[in-house]
Parts: sequence; C-alpha cells; structure tokens
Amino acid sequence: MDISVCIGSACHLKGSYDVIKEFQELLKEYKLEDKITLKGAFCLNHCTEAVSTKINDGEVISMNVDKVKSLLKKVAEENKWNI
Ligand code: FES
Repeated sequence: MDISVCIGSACHLKGSYDVIKEFQELLKEYKLEDKITLKGAFCLNHCTEAVSTKINDGEVISMNVDKVKSLLKKVAEENKWNI
C-alpha cells in the first residue's frame, strides 16, 4: 500500500514535512514499514485542503499531524493488521 503526502507549495506551507515525519514515526512504532510505503507527491489539485494525502489511488484526504494516528489505525483495522 502506498500513502502519498503532497509536498507541493500549499501543502508544504501547511506542514507536509511534519505530517510525513509523523507518518514515519508511527509506521515504525506500529511496525507497518513493510506494509505501507510513504511517498511524496506533487500538487494533488486540492491545495485548499492541504495537507493533501491519498492512499493508493483513492480520494484525496485533508491531513494534519493530529489525524495521522487515527488514519493509520483505521487502515490497519480495515486490513486486519494487528498494531
Ligand atoms: S500543493 Fe498540495 S494539493 Fe496542491
């Protein structure tokens, strides 16, 4: 599974770096590094909802640092991964 975080200018200003850092830390903590590949993406055309993030080719999600944990928990639950 790929999770792409937009690093375009609007999202960068809204903190994509921090969102990516949070993802990296939690992927490690939950041992999901072999299941989820974190990627940087260029503008996903949802700049007003920065920080834009998407799972595989799914819909663009408006992400912030506080939402990373619940997103990962939801993904793990849907895939029946024990974290
Ligand atoms: S810069 Fe991230 S959606 Fe446009």
